[in-house]
Amino acid sequence: MIEADNITKRYGDFLAVDQVSFRAGAGEVIGFLGPNGAGKTTTMRILTGFLPATDGRARIAGHDIFEEPLAARRAVGYLPETPPLYPEMDVTGYLEFVAKIKDVPRARRRSAVESALERCGLADVHRRVIGSLSKGFRQRVGIAQAILHDPPVLILDEPTVGLDPIQIREIRGLIADLADPEKTEARTIVLSTHILAEVEAICRRVLMIHEGKMVLDSAIGELTAEGQSLEDVFARMTLREGEAA
Ligand SMILES: Nc1ncnc2c1ncn2[C@@H]1O[C@H](COP(=O)(O)OP(=O)(O)O)[C@@H](O)[C@H]1O
Ligand SMILES: [Mg+2]
Repeated sequence: MIEADNITKRYGDFLAVDQVSFRAGAGEVIGFLGPNGAGKTTTMRILTGFLPATDGRARIAGHDIFEEPLAARRAVGYLPETPPLYPEMDVTGYLEFVAKIKDVPRARRRSAVESALERCGLADVHRRVIGSLSKGFRQRVGIAQAILHDPPVLILDEPTVGLDPIQIREIRGLIADLADPEKTEARTIVLSTHILAEVEAICRRVLMIHEGKMVLDSAIGELTAEGQSLEDVFARMTLREGEAA
């Protein structure tokens, strides 16, 4: 579903993402970990077609993001770090607007909006103005806009950042639900976070990036089977040069 080959991004002389490669199949829920500034957001923006790479290739559901950008973008739902919400719009109005700009055919727009409202637990607030919602509900609206066109791949950039513990639990539940093969077609979900417990709670595989380089790609079960915690692995993989283990 996702094939990333040597994705590289330079900002001037600064190498933000350095030859990142990975494959993700249908039904996988992957935690994308790394300290602040590691390159997570940059990689995700490239995969979702929001930012051109300096080098490398990527395909989403078989579509090359540079050669077939429209088809690739249609196959991916993206929750950016700051979702583009319009605080003065109501939830339904906003999602109808997103359905239009995402080219959901007119005849399917209403059912797409209703299904996203329902899946994201927004039915009770669908007439509320977005600006009046709690951060947890606004995040749900962000996820609703990402799944609106029912894409097979979801890329979620720090979906629980800034939420309180109850909201975090709700959003994790929602993500687990979106990945549940009994409830939907097998989706591929990549979510970035620096909360290790989050990855252990909802992901089966972890990718770790540090200073732009992929330093780990492993099933969580394999890591913890060796008796180490994810926290140990994270600390070891993201040591700065000169620091002792
Ligand atoms: N537009 C930009 N211009 C210059 N440097 C940038 C730009 N965007 C991000 N960076 C740098 O690239 C690195 C990776 O950033 P980012 O992908 O946002 O990391 P993460 O999401 O893992 O915290 C950081 O050092 C950041 O300062
Ligand atoms: Mg980021």
